[in-house]
Amino acid sequence: MTDAIQITVNQRPLACRAGMSVAAALLAQDIYQFRTSPARRAPRGAFCLMGACQECAIMIDGHIQRACQTVVRDGMCVVLAGASAG
Ligand code: FES
Repeated sequence: MTDAIQITVNQRPLACRAGMSVAAALLAQDIYQFRTSPARRAPRGAFCLMGACQECAIMIDGHIQRACQTVVRDGMCVVLAGASAG
């Protein structure tokens, strides 16, 4: 894998390529549920993949960020609340 880096997702290592978005890295591993909705606990994941819908907002390095608009970096820590990581 060219430019291989590693992030952690719910404390599990996940290999991905530099330059891809967090959402792309998760989807490449068949992780479709990123979180649950606050009120109904309904599953949520990437929808628009262009930064508009906010459905992919998850905890990345201690801050809530849009996974589709955040580029992975080596050592990044991703937390999927209410969702499994694979
Ligand atoms: S998938 Fe819509 S903002 Fe990220």
